[in-house]
Amino acid sequence: MKLEGVKNHLLLCNGASCTRNGAQEVTEAIRQEIRQLSMQKVVHTTKTLCNGRCAFGPIVIQYPRGIWYDQMTPERGRQLAQSIYQNISYLETASHVYDGRIFLKLEQGVNVNGDYWTGNDEDAHRDKHLSDGDRTKEPSLRKSEKQSD
Ligand code: FES
Repeated sequence: MKLEGVKNHLLLCNGASCTRNGAQEVTEAIRQEIRQLSMQKVVHTTKTLCNGRCAFGPIVIQYPRGIWYDQMTPERGRQLAQSIYQNISYLETASHVYDGRIFLKLEQGVNVNGDYWTGNDEDAHRDKHLSDGDRTKEPSLRKSEKQSD
């Protein structure tokens, strides 16, 4: 596997719990969609063992963006692959996202404005991070905005 040119790495949990909940079908759907979109050279996938979030599986993790997805289905997997193809963020079932320093929990997913923050206590945490001048990740967290390379 040549890594040169790869832009995304998807970690596909195929631990025992995720497998019981359909991880193999999710894996096949994502890999099939990647082939369909001719993205094999820019999206690398790796089947993993347990990622420690069995209760929420099947789990998929997208790097380098640092987005963790819960309860993936084959359809959601295809949507994730398509979002990579379209160079847009996919946050429909995102549970956590890396903000440049730490992973933040997303309480309720994306709201109608395409902004996943929903008025929970972590807003203050997020605002503190952003006010600290660490705004580099903020635009990429919005559903409707393009990913930066
Ligand atoms: S088996 Fe997937 S998170 Fe544990």
